[in-house]
Amino acid sequence: MLKELTATRFVTPLREGGSLPGLVEADDRGTYVMKFTGAGQGRKTLVAEVVCGGLARRLGLRVPDLVTLDLDPVLSLGEPDQEVQELLKRSGGTNLGMGFLSRALGFDPLAFEVSPEEAGRVVWFDALVNNVDRSWRNPNLLVRDGDLWLIDHGATMIWHHNWSGARALADRAYDASDHALAPFAPDVASAAAELAPRVTEDLLAEVTAEIPEVWLADEPGFESADALRRAYAEPLLTRAAVVHDRIEGIK
Ligand SMILES: Nc1ncnc2c1ncn2[C@@H]1O[C@H](COP(=O)(O)OP(=O)(O)OP(=O)(O)O)[C@@H](O)[C@H]1O
Ligand SMILES: [Mg+2]
Repeated sequence: MLKELTATRFVTPLREGGSLPGLVEADDRGTYVMKFTGAGQGRKTLVAEVVCGGLARRLGLRVPDLVTLDLDPVLSLGEPDQEVQELLKRSGGTNLGMGFLSRALGFDPLAFEVSPEEAGRVVWFDALVNNVDRSWRNPNLLVRDGDLWLIDHGATMIWHHNWSGARALADRAYDASDHALAPFAPDVASAAAELAPRVTEDLLAEVTAEIPEVWLADEPGFESADALRRAYAEPLLTRAAVVHDRIEGIK
């Protein structure tokens, strides 16, 4: 299970993010980037963050720690910005927190060199989860002390927006031509050889077990939260074995 914390202070909205994430303090005195259940695509974005963040971490990729943050909408009262206040009011209860990487800079491909091995691991992982949000326009990569960190996995696993067509969507190729790391000669074959065997049923069960129950409740077509957890695991398990052959747009 993810660590369960409570937000104690809303510090500031992070204006760069389309979904208007916010910086908050929690009752462990830590600072977190909070992603709200009341934002745009709602709880599915947060489920995607938990599944992809948990999977990436277990595969040895650098991602911020994830926690749940309980939000009392009363915290919205001190917020002067109307849009942010409304978002906080709509998001009472369980939200997602991501460890804030202080001193991190946005990834700049002209200022930072990525090895073909590391680029290969990131591109292979993004192909696995079908991440369409790591382009050179919006890399969703941070750099701190010379290390690359992956953030923002909200726009992944497109199949979870349409479970009845999930299999067909999950069979599709991944176009990596716009990927932020495409220019770094990503060694996808080595990454696949190293990482694919690690994406097992057990690993995926562990990852999907971390999805907070409240974000899975009442999904049409599913009898239980556990059935939905299995539905999240299945396309990833199938895809892990084959996806390296379906990555298009890189040399
Ligand atoms: N864990 C973190 N540590 C430090 N900064 C972060 C962290 N997470 C996000 N940020 C900063 O906040 C910005 C917005 O975050 P993120 O990309 O996750 O939000 P989003 O609303 O999903 O964005 P997008 O507009 O890409 O859909 C990032 O570009 C980054 O600058
Ligand atoms: Mg982003």
